[in-house]
Amino acid sequence: MNAFENWFCGTSFWHRVTERTILPWMLNGYSLGDSVLELGAGPGATTEELRKRAKRLTSLEYDHNFAAKLGARFSNTNANVLQGDAAALPFPDDSFSSVIAVLVLHHLKSPERQERAFAEIHRVLKPGGVFLAFEIKDGWLQRFGHIKSVFVPISPSSISDQLTSFGFSEVAVESKGSSFRVCALRSREN
Ligand SMILES: C[S@@+](CC[C@H](N)C(=O)[O-])C[C@H]1O[C@@H](n2cnc3c(N)ncnc32)[C@H](O)[C@@H]1O
Repeated sequence: MNAFENWFCGTSFWHRVTERTILPWMLNGYSLGDSVLELGAGPGATTEELRKRAKRLTSLEYDHNFAAKLGARFSNTNANVLQGDAAALPFPDDSFSSVIAVLVLHHLKSPERQERAFAEIHRVLKPGGVFLAFEIKDGWLQRFGHIKSVFVPISPSSISDQLTSFGFSEVAVESKGSSFRVCALRSREN
């Protein structure tokens, strides 16, 4: 991430937006279940809120500094923070009732890594589990905000077919302005 993103994701403003707007929208109509995996926790705005809503939370973060800070902040709580890569998840098959990613998919460095992440998310979800993502659409402002960072935009019009090809079912994509949410189920049969 660039310096702006590092700063912004750690602000109380972003925490409030996550708490009051983003998470309620993402969770509307879906249940997290009791074992939740958060991908790309960053400074922890979503972690803090998920922890209140889940029995057990595992938060994975690629950046060593963020992971170490967050691990120290949430030690001895129901949140377990690990350093790791969303495209190579260090968990057994069928581990989680839900996987959630807020502004993370576009930070995966290539479409191939995004596809590896989709396969991994499907693998670690329990049958019937749900994958929830919040993403931003491609646009000049988004590209500007990611100068000296990674921005591999996810297309809201093709993500449904992509996830279906990895075995997900009932994929729903809903747009609000320049953002969208993605909800997908791991079928009970596969
Ligand atoms: C824009 S931040 C979002 C942070 C947090 N989800 C939030 O909404 O406040 C994206 C985060 O994804 C992390 N990230 C990037 N690539 C990753 C990967 N391959 N696996 C896990 N996390 C990753 C980044 O280090 C960064 O902390």
